[in-house]
Amino acid sequence: MSSSTNIALLGTKFMGRAHSNAWLNVDKYFDLSRPPSMHVVAGRNPAETAEFAQRWGWKNHETDWTRAVSDPEVDLVDIGTPNNVHGEQAIAALEAGKHVACEKPLSDSIATAEAMAAAAAASDRQTFVWYNYRRVPAVALAHRLVREGRIGTIYHARASYLQSWGGPDTPLLWRFDSAVAGSGAHGDLNAHIIDAVRFVTGEEITTVEGAIEHTFIHERQTIEGGAGGEIAGSGASTGGSKGTSTVDDTVAFLSRLSGGGIASFEATRVATGYHNANRFEIHGELGALRFDFERMNELAFYDASDGATAGWRTIDVTRGGDGHPYAAAWWPDSHGLGYEHSFVNQAADILTVLGGGDALVPMPDFADALRTERVLHAAIESARRGAPIPIDPVV
Ligand SMILES: NC(=O)c1ccc[n+]([C@@H]2O[C@H](COP(=O)([O-])OP(=O)(O)OC[C@H]3O[C@@H](n4cnc5c(N)ncnc54)[C@H](O)[C@@H]3O)[C@@H](O)[C@H]2O)c1
Repeated sequence: MSSSTNIALLGTKFMGRAHSNAWLNVDKYFDLSRPPSMHVVAGRNPAETAEFAQRWGWKNHETDWTRAVSDPEVDLVDIGTPNNVHGEQAIAALEAGKHVACEKPLSDSIATAEAMAAAAAASDRQTFVWYNYRRVPAVALAHRLVREGRIGTIYHARASYLQSWGGPDTPLLWRFDSAVAGSGAHGDLNAHIIDAVRFVTGEEITTVEGAIEHTFIHERQTIEGGAGGEIAGSGASTGGSKGTSTVDDTVAFLSRLSGGGIASFEATRVATGYHNANRFEIHGELGALRFDFERMNELAFYDASDGATAGWRTIDVTRGGDGHPYAAAWWPDSHGLGYEHSFVNQAADILTVLGGGDALVPMPDFADALRTERVLHAAIESARRGAPIPIDPVV
């Protein structure tokens, strides 16, 4: 085994950039026994991939992802491609004896997600899923406070993920094609908040009911040169004709938690006024927690034992000296962190696990992410059948 972790990155756009930034910077901020080596990146367009490799410092580049995955020098395959290719790429990587870090949602379908979890279980390699919001310090602190019993028995979890980029002027990106994405706001955004509620509460979702799945905008401008369309808002030229969106714009549902509480979830791409409002509120017998990614350096906490002085307090979670998760690796107090730091924090934990250590907070592997997929799947079943759907325990 080499002293570094040789990485193959698949995908060169939004997540390609976020992951490259993480691999490039992680060992500048964290002490790692097996730091990353940016060995090879695979993209589809030869000129763009070469330019990307040079810009971000990848040693080699490829237009055939299968060659990157089977490269004997690669230890870890990092998947940042659309949902419908995660399964094929992850299973090929596991079969080639590689560790795999895959973007969320695990897949575009429950069947493929199950096959991925089965392939991981059959392999002696490690798997990781980029539910990066777990490693936003405020979310990691919320997880820790619940584990310490600070809010007691959980009654309610209320989570929403509100974006607004999916209005009628947004063209037919792959995110609006169910054959590629699997679903719309649901798999894109509900996936994150289902994972967040599971992570923070430490409980599983046992039943989904009352789900609504809705598409507001059925026709969208097609994109010149095909259905690619990388990052929303990237200014892709439209082709002048219209095509059909085959995904939801919003999905909302209710659920029951394994500890007896109830939870609600709402994901939308048309919540005018919000841009990346990934939020949750958790109410327990002893206290409550509130988080909004649009104010990601803060966690609100209510301690009911404060009696007459009880009230929501806003914790600035940037204080490494006070033990705030991940904060000590970064800047002095109140020098805030951003979106990209969650990926660097996760890259640090992935490399720590591969080096034989423990992640700072629990890391989702394919088996764990399959639980989130089962909730996503149950919500769609509930919406279409109009009935409560119990969630199968994951073996
Ligand atoms: N964790 C997060 O916060 C977060 C945020 C955005 C996206 N994502 C997830 O990351 C994944 C990628 O999303 P994105 O926003 O980076 O998409 P993107 O469209 O910006 O980039 C996708 C990349 O995959 C490549 N690609 C597309 N189809 C391919 C194929 N068949 N074979 C090989 N390469 C292919 C594209 O060329 C491009 O480089 C998705 O699963 C998405 O849900 C996660």
